[in-house]
Amino acid sequence: MFLNMAEPVQIAPATGKLGVLTPGLGAVASTFIAGVLRARQDGTPPLGSVSQMAHIRLGRREDGRNPLIRDFVPLASLDDLVFGGWDPISPNALEAARTCGVLDERDLVSISSQLEGVVAMDAVFDQRWVSRLDGQRVKNLTNKWDQAMALMEDIERFRVENDCDRLVIVWCGSTEAFQEASAVHETVEAFEQGLKDNDDNISPSQIYVYAALQSGVPFANGAPNLSTDLPCMVQLAQQRGVPIVGKDFKTGQTLMKTLIAPGLKARMLGLRGWYSTNILGNRDGEVLDAPENFKTKEESKLGVLHTILQPEVYPTLYGNIDHVVRINYYPPRGDNKEGWDAIDIFGWMGYPMQIKIDFLCRDSILAAPIVLDLALFMDLAARAGQSGVQEWLSFYLKAPQAAGEHPAEQDLFIQQTKMKNTLRQWMGEEPVTHSEAG
Ligand SMILES: NC(=O)c1ccc[n+]([C@@H]2O[C@H](COP(=O)([O-])OP(=O)(O)OC[C@H]3O[C@@H](n4cnc5c(N)ncnc54)[C@H](O)[C@@H]3O)[C@@H](O)[C@H]2O)c1
Repeated sequence: MFLNMAEPVQIAPATGKLGVLTPGLGAVASTFIAGVLRARQDGTPPLGSVSQMAHIRLGRREDGRNPLIRDFVPLASLDDLVFGGWDPISPNALEAARTCGVLDERDLVSISSQLEGVVAMDAVFDQRWVSRLDGQRVKNLTNKWDQAMALMEDIERFRVENDCDRLVIVWCGSTEAFQEASAVHETVEAFEQGLKDNDDNISPSQIYVYAALQSGVPFANGAPNLSTDLPCMVQLAQQRGVPIVGKDFKTGQTLMKTLIAPGLKARMLGLRGWYSTNILGNRDGEVLDAPENFKTKEESKLGVLHTILQPEVYPTLYGNIDHVVRINYYPPRGDNKEGWDAIDIFGWMGYPMQIKIDFLCRDSILAAPIVLDLALFMDLAARAGQSGVQEWLSFYLKAPQAAGEHPAEQDLFIQQTKMKNTLRQWMGEEPVTHSEAG
């Protein structure tokens, strides 16, 4: 539903500094920070960032109004971003960047002191949830309520020391072991009691979300584990008037799936099976090598096709699909993942055809601009007085969190339309429907 054109949403100006905090200062976070530093130091274009590079059409085609999104909506400027984070292993963003090896040393040299200055705060970490990592830089507190309070103190200290006007948090930490929501996640009261009782079902990432929301800081979850998508967090976000969004950055193979599946469906071509396998050698790959952590990722990746293809509406085309996803830890490849897709489709009179994809991608290169856009758009949402689940940002996420009863849209192109129309609506412009009249 769109507001009347004459009623734009009131958006507070993006004055002062915006602190971007990442729990997890690994490959994705360090690549994101390095790219922003280079963009503002020497104008390296922030490729892949829709907020920085994309234009948005306004009005009718013949009007010729097509500004950059960043000139249309009042986003924080890259010059006003300040970075921070928590990590149980990486001491700072420079070490993280060097360890993960995504960027060449020549791309780091001119920004090395700034990266080194992004020092990781001690993490709330529990090996029970990430068995492959041995955290050293961890808060020396055993009670989960105390851990939440300590994170809130970190957030406040960061805000004051860096003279930030506003903060956002984007989870770039490891994927936690698979878990179903339980009674402790039902309400804010139950969760708070669970923190005090050290309830086993509360994972570290959930403690970060709680601390963020209580501090009035928007939170985006880039990993597939349960955190913002718990009933207690949705409730808390609404109570505190803070935006949340999740989950799992849409990169690599799933990005390809959300590009290709809508195309097959648009042409009413059938799908019999989709076999996806990856080799990946970074720390993320190592964490996902543990079956309990891979299960969390698998659930997030498997949901995509079902929502796009709607087998219940199209049983003849999509009622019998074998969808398999594998991730294999293979150290020689580092962050440079290779993903293969074998796609079995069928067309006229049921004749089978095959599509093969071999995507030699770079995970963190695809994820970094998503971190930037989520940070900027979540800050915009907060200044626009929005709270709760920001479904309009589904574009960036593998398993988007729905704001209501219906599942969130998975088709990348519908997501893009929804995102742009939300921005138009907030700024008092008509939605673009691509009808004959428009
Ligand atoms: N790169 C991609 O394309 C992509 C896509 C979707 C999702 N993700 C997810 O993003 C996350 C980050 O990916 P990455 O490649 O940077 O992984 P990474 O292993 O390089 O970095 C993750 C960092 O999180 C830290 N960490 C673990 N538990 C923590 C905690 N409790 N608090 C603070 N820090 C903690 C680890 O020490 C590590 O340095 C992973 O969960 C990954 O699954 C990545």
